[in-house]
Amino acid sequence: MSSHLLHRQFPPSFVWGVATSSFQIEGAPHADGKGESIWDRFCRQPGAIADASNGDIACDHFHRLDSDLDLIASLGVNCYRFSIAWPRVQALGHGDFNPKGLNFYERLVDGLLRRGIQAFATLNHWDLPQGLQDRGGWNDRDTVHRFVDYARHVQARLGDRLDGLTTHNEPWVVAVLGHEQGSFAPGIKSRRTAMQVCHHLLLSHGLAMQALRADGATAELGIVLNLTSSVPATAMPADIAAAQRADARSRRWYADPLFKGCYPEEVLAELGADAPVVQPGDMGSIAQPMDYLGVNYYTRTVISAGGEAWDAKGRGLPVSDMDWEIYPQGLADLLVLLHRDYPGLPPVYVTENGGAFKDQAVVNGRVQDDDRIDYLRGHIAAVASAMQQGVPMAGYMVWSLMDNFEWASGYLKRFGIVHVDYDTQVRTPKASADWYRDFLKDWRG
Ligand code: FCB
Repeated sequence: MSSHLLHRQFPPSFVWGVATSSFQIEGAPHADGKGESIWDRFCRQPGAIADASNGDIACDHFHRLDSDLDLIASLGVNCYRFSIAWPRVQALGHGDFNPKGLNFYERLVDGLLRRGIQAFATLNHWDLPQGLQDRGGWNDRDTVHRFVDYARHVQARLGDRLDGLTTHNEPWVVAVLGHEQGSFAPGIKSRRTAMQVCHHLLLSHGLAMQALRADGATAELGIVLNLTSSVPATAMPADIAAAQRADARSRRWYADPLFKGCYPEEVLAELGADAPVVQPGDMGSIAQPMDYLGVNYYTRTVISAGGEAWDAKGRGLPVSDMDWEIYPQGLADLLVLLHRDYPGLPPVYVTENGGAFKDQAVVNGRVQDDDRIDYLRGHIAAVASAMQQGVPMAGYMVWSLMDNFEWASGYLKRFGIVHVDYDTQVRTPKASADWYRDFLKDWRG
């Protein structure tokens, strides 16, 4: 479908945004008494980050807030998704809160509202205070309660001006990449720990939802999951069964507790002694009604019983610079599956979607990233298709506003629709930013 017709598929109430996260763009790691985060610490570990970089400067967003807000407004989006760095708000994650830390986010939120842009804040986009990691981090049940305190504190100060408040971004990444594979902070390699961490993240989500509501929340409350469609490599029964198991581990392990109040039995059986300790009442606490579900989608996962990796590139299929297969249909399939599996599914936002590409340099003030335009157009069309199939879609947010610190890949991977020159901090909207702006102009009519 051409962009020309695509915009007509979306109602006037649809939310269109761009997304970022604190550690990936802010820099200013010590400003106004900010504490150390587990990502500050992890970046110092030799070999942890592909280009041996860190988040000390990143996009220097902390010092460029006003011009970055103008940049966001220039795109014509009606929403901005950002995250709050917990160690700015509470240096150690326990003890005193730091009012100066919230001043920055207050300026951000007020600046968005002045520009007519909805503010969607995420409380945990991975930069846990190191002070809590020193006490056991997400593996320690006490962190659950520290998170609830932090959530309440943020809401007390900003809640009246937020449109959306997300507890966690992508618990799978924190649990599995951070605590099982150890490729992300805090770099732990234990499946047992990862599963307990996961349970504590979900529990803290549920308890925070309850506490925020009890305190009179006015923002929409929800969680953001990274989800994929797990597809069998062939029609062989063994591959189909393997894909079902992968789907249970990566999607249902997170969504079943949230929407059904239980972990999938087959995954619990597979985990055996590595299954998390669940205290009486936990599952009921996790399954709080949500105002929305956020879905981050980048690629599908193709599974074979033998466990061989799916080499999309080797097969000549389109891939991004992360070597992730570009497969928009997977987003529609995933959304339809969620709608089928969870009756009463709340409104769904695609809270992240986008691609890293080897962008050409800035030439005459332009970066011609046609591959990213194709990516975005294809996935927005997939959202329209899901909507036509009855999925209650509420919004779509591009990852990312601008090139930034891509975790263990450092600055080597560029996801932005705005190019960042890290030597000068000059921002240059890419052709994809122009495309998005034009698309939104057509949609507004
Ligand atoms: C997601 C993260 C986001 C970004 C994208 C590419 O997993 O939430 O911060 O790194 O991947």
